[in-house]
Amino acid sequence: MRTSLWVQVAFSAFAVTGERATEADPTFCCDALKAAGLQDITHYPDAAAYAARQEAYYNPLARLKPACIIQPNRAEEVSTIVKMLVKANKTQPCQFAIRAGGQTIREGAANIDGGVTIDLGFMNSTTYFAENKTAAVQPGARWGTVFRALDKADVASAGGRAASVGVGGLVLGGGNSFYSARKGLVCDNVQNFEVVLANGDIVHANSESNSDLFQVLKGGANNFGVVTRIDLKTFEREPIWGGVVAYPVDTADLHTKALVNFGEKLADDPYASAIVILLFESHIGFPMVGNAYEYTKPIERPPPIFDEFLAIPGNFSSSMRTTNMTDLTEELEKPKGFRWKFLTLTFQNDERILKKATELFHYIIETVGDRDELHLSPMFQPLPISFTKHSVANGGNILGLDRFSENNILFLYVIGWMKKENDEFMHKISEQYIEDLDSYAKSIGKSNPYIYLPYADPTQDPLSTYGSANILKMRAAAAKYDPEGVFQTMVPGGFKLSKVQIPEDHDYLQHDEL
Ligand SMILES: Cc1cc2nc3c(=O)[nH]c(=O)nc-3n(C[C@H](O)[C@H](O)[C@H](O)COP(=O)(O)OP(=O)(O)OC[C@H]3O[C@@H](n4cnc5c(N)ncnc54)[C@H](O)[C@@H]3O)c2cc1C
Ligand SMILES: *[C@@H]1O[C@H](CO)[C@@H](O)[C@H](O)[C@H]1NC(C)=O
Ligand SMILES: *[C@@H]1O[C@H](CO)[C@@H](O)[C@H](O)[C@H]1NC(C)=O
Ligand SMILES: *[C@@H]1O[C@H](CO)[C@@H](O)[C@H](O)[C@H]1NC(C)=O
Ligand SMILES: *[C@@H]1O[C@H](CO)[C@@H](O)[C@H](O)[C@H]1NC(C)=O
Ligand SMILES: *[C@@H]1O[C@H](CO)[C@@H](O)[C@H](O)[C@H]1NC(C)=O
Repeated sequence: MRTSLWVQVAFSAFAVTGERATEADPTFCCDALKAAGLQDITHYPDAAAYAARQEAYYNPLARLKPACIIQPNRAEEVSTIVKMLVKANKTQPCQFAIRAGGQTIREGAANIDGGVTIDLGFMNSTTYFAENKTAAVQPGARWGTVFRALDKADVASAGGRAASVGVGGLVLGGGNSFYSARKGLVCDNVQNFEVVLANGDIVHANSESNSDLFQVLKGGANNFGVVTRIDLKTFEREPIWGGVVAYPVDTADLHTKALVNFGEKLADDPYASAIVILLFESHIGFPMVGNAYEYTKPIERPPPIFDEFLAIPGNFSSSMRTTNMTDLTEELEKPKGFRWKFLTLTFQNDERILKKATELFHYIIETVGDRDELHLSPMFQPLPISFTKHSVANGGNILGLDRFSENNILFLYVIGWMKKENDEFMHKISEQYIEDLDSYAKSIGKSNPYIYLPYADPTQDPLSTYGSANILKMRAAAAKYDPEGVFQTMVPGGFKLSKVQIPEDHDYLQHDEL
C-alpha cells in the first residue's frame, strides 16, 4: 500500500517539478528558515558568503541562482531546515538542493534556481578513531583534507583521487579509487551513515540498523535523505608508488591495448591501478597520452603488471615516485577557468572500442578547431568483476554491477571550453561522441548498460541501469523512509528515482529477487 501511495505522489508531482508559481514570493522559503532561528546561516544573493559559495562550484555552469544558501554546522540544524522547508511547502513550493563538495559537473545536481541550497560546506571535518579504526567524515569535506588527516594518523581509506572532490557526492554515487581492486568501491567501505530523513529524524544506517537504507545509500545518491556523517573503514597506510606519465599520441593504441590486458590481470595484483587518459589542451597545441599509474604498497621496482606500459617508449615526462595520498590527490586536479561537461559509458574490456574512442577524440579536436580554448581528456578506467566482490561482504551496494560477468571499462569523457556562446555546440558534439561510441560497442556486441552516476550527464539515466531488482529495492526504501516523496518532489536536482522506469530488458533481472 505504501509503495503505491508513494509512487502515485512521486509521479503526479513531476507535473509541477521545475515550474515555480510565477506569483510566488522567492524569499518565502528562506524567510521561513530565518524565522526558525537560522538567520545567521541563511545567505541571500547580496551577501559575500553567497557569492563565495557560488564561486566555489567547480563548473561555472553549476552556478545557478538559489533564493538563498543555508550553511548548517551540524545534523540538528539540517533536521530543522528539512522540517521547516517541508512545512513551508504546504503554503508555497519550497524546493531545495543538497550540496556537499559542489564538484559535480552536471548543472542542477547540487544547486537550484529560485529555491534553497543546503550547502554542507561547513560540515567538513575528518575525525579518526583508533579504537574502532574508523574515520567519521562529514559530507562537505574534500578528499584532500580527508587524506591529510588520515596520512597523519598513518591510516588509509578508499576515497577520491583528486583533492578538491567532495566526499558526499562521491560516496553516495559509488566512488572509484586507487584501492578499488583491493577494497571495492568507496561506498563499500562505509561502516555507517548518519542521515536526516524527510521527517527530520536523525538516524543511523549500517548493516545492523536500517540496513535497507544502508544499502540504497550506496549508489542511490540524494533520493533518501541528507547524509550528515559517513563512517569510513580504514586500514594501515603504506607508501604509494604513483604519478603521471606523458607520451606522444602515436602510442595511443599501445596504451589502450596495455590497459585491456591490465584490466584482465588486476584481480591477480589488486594493489595496482591505472588510468589511460587521452589529452588535448589548446595551449599545448598537440594531443598526447597522459597515464596515471599507482601501486598502493612500497616496491623496489615496478611490479610485472605494469611491464607492458613501461615498455612503451618515448615518454616526455614522468612524475612516478613513492609518496602519500595527500600528495597524489593534489596531482590529479583539472585546470581552472573552463566550462565543463562529463559523459560516461561502460563497455566490455575490448581493445576495438578504445581504438574507436581514440579516433573520435581526434575528430572532436578537429571539429572544435580554433573556435575556442579546448581541454579534452577522455579516460579509460578498468572496471573488472573483481571490484564488486567486496560489496556483498560489506552489506551490498545498489549499483547492480554484480550482475555482470565480464570485465568492463568505465569510460569518462571530459571536455572543457571557455566561451558561453559555445555551450550548445560543445554539448552537441559531446553527446554525439557518446552516441557514436555506444553504437560502435553495440555493433560488435560488447556494450554494457551501466552508467556511473557521479560522471553522468543530465542526458543520461544512471539509476535505471542498476537493474530491476535494485530499482525495486530503492522504491521500497523511498516509500518507507520518505513516504511523502520529499526527496522526489522537493529536491529536483540529481537523478530522481521517481522518474525511473523498470527496464523491459529482463536480462537485467536478478532471479532470486523476484
Ligand atoms: C576533478 C574531478 C575528479 C574526480 N575524481 C573522481 C574519482 O577519483 N573517483 C570517483 O568515483 N569520482 C570522481 N569524480 C566524480 C565525483 O565523484 C563527483 O563529481 C561527485 O559527485 C563529487 O562529489 P561532491 O560532494 O563534490 O558533489 P556535489 O556536487 O556536492 O553533490 C553531488 C550529488 O550528490 C548529492 N549529495 C551530495 N552530498 C549529499 C548528502 N550529504 N546527502 C544527500 N545527497 C548528497 C547532491 O545533492 C548532488 O546531487 C571526480 C570529479 C572531478 C570534477
Ligand atoms: C572547513 O570549511 C571552513 C569554511 O570554509 C574552512 O575555513 C576550513 O578550513 C575547512 N576545514 C577543512 C578541514 O577543510
Ligand atoms: C567509533 O568510535 C567512536 C568513539 O567511540 C564513536 O563515536 C563512533 O561512532 C564509532 N564508529 C563506529 C562506526 O562505530
Ligand atoms: C606527504 O607527502 C608530502 C610530499 O612528499 C610531504 O610533504 C608530506 O609531509 C607527507 N605527509 C605525511 C603525513 O607524511
Ligand atoms: C620514461 O622514459 C625514461 C627514459 O627517457 C625511462 O627511463 C623511464 O623509465 C620512462 N618511464 C616510464 C614510466 O615509462
Ligand atoms: C511540495 O509542494 C508541491 C507544490 O505544491 C507539491 O506538488 C509537492 O507534493 C509537495 N511536496 C511535499 C513532500 O509535500
